[in-house]
Order: sequence, then structure tokens, then C-alpha cells
Amino acid sequence: MDKVGLLKEVEQEMIQNRGLPLREANLVFGEGDVNCSVMFIGEAPGFHENEAKRPFVGRGGQLLRRLIRELGWLEQDVYITNIVKRRPPENRDPSPEEIEAYRPYLARQIEIINPKIVVPLGRFSMNYFLPEAKITRDQGRAFKINHRLIVPMFHPAAALRSTGVLDQLRASFLRLPRIIGGEVFDANVLVSSREVKPATPKQDQVSLF
Ligand code: URA
Repeated sequence: MDKVGLLKEVEQEMIQNRGLPLREANLVFGEGDVNCSVMFIGEAPGFHENEAKRPFVGRGGQLLRRLIRELGWLEQDVYITNIVKRRPPENRDPSPEEIEAYRPYLARQIEIINPKIVVPLGRFSMNYFLPEAKITRDQGRAFKINHRLIVPMFHPAAALRSTGVLDQLRASFLRLPRIIGGEVFDANVLVSSREVKPATPKQDQVSLF
């Protein structure tokens, strides 16, 4: 099966898994080029993403998409998704339980797309890959976990609130082409991330009643 088919299978499993949290919201699976080099991973969908069933389409998303275009890339050349695939009520932060529940699906999404670089946006997504990292200290640095580079960056919503953060986010974006080209590399992470282990999602228990 090709990548698109495999991703469809993952999406279908999520739809059928009645044990997943936040079921009252729409599923926002992700979008973009399945053969991309760079995958951007945010936190969780917000109001607009829930409505559109697309990731990063609100104001923060528009900034993310503008920064991508400023590199001369097309939005469709990258893949965009979130660690949690449904909107938490009132846009609250995703809970550790919600992040854990969606973890196996994101792990498979990454494994199927197999990007060279993952860019976690914001601290929740960053700590998913790099539990010890601090966003102000580590954003923009390229960490190698096994064969993949993880380059955490500020969340675009934070950049909308502060021009200082926006400047740093833009500077980190500008490093991306050189990171892809193998010219920039900051640190090896020896502790292997849980992301690299393909996990099997818990299947819904079939009720006999
Ligand atoms: N914030 C996120 O983290 N993800 C989205 O899709 C939208 C806003």
C-alpha cells in the first residue's frame, strides 16, 4: 500500500477508536505532501481548525504558512499536523493523558511519512520528542534522534503576541534550508525518543453486549 493508503488506515482507526478522548470534536488528521522533507507538528486543533477539519488555519496558522512561503517553499511541500488530533474544550492545553492517547497514531504518521526533519511547534510538541528541552533555550537547535532531526521552534501563536518571539521564530525558519542540506547540526540525543518506536494503537474492545 502507498503512503496515502497507509495514512488513510491510521485515520480510519482513529475514527473507529471510541476510547480516544475529545471525541465530541472533529478529527483534524493533518495535510500536506506525504513525501515531504519537513513535517511541522503543533499542539492541538483550535476553534478554526475544528471547523475546517484542517490544521493551522487560524491566525497562528496563517503566520506558520507565511513563514513557510518566505523560504520559497509551498505549503503543500511540507506536512502539517498536531500531537493531539482533536480540539480540547475552550482551547485549553492538551492533558498528558490526551497526548498519550494520541501518541501511537502520531508515531505511525511520522513513521509512514518518514520526513528528514520534524519541527515541533511550542513546548508541548517539543517535549513530546525532547522531554528535557526548554523552549527558550533550545528552539531553533537541530537535535538528531536516531536518523531524524528534530528542530523545535516557538509556537506561531506565541509569535503573534511578541515581536521578539517572532524575530526568533523567523530566524529559526531561515536556518531550515541549511539544516536540510546537512550544513547545520547542533546535538545528538542519545536517549532514543519514544516517537521512533512504532507503536500499535489500542484497539477498541469489542463489546459483547
Ligand atoms: N495551534 C496548534 O497547535 N495547532 C493548530 O492546528 C492550530 C493552532
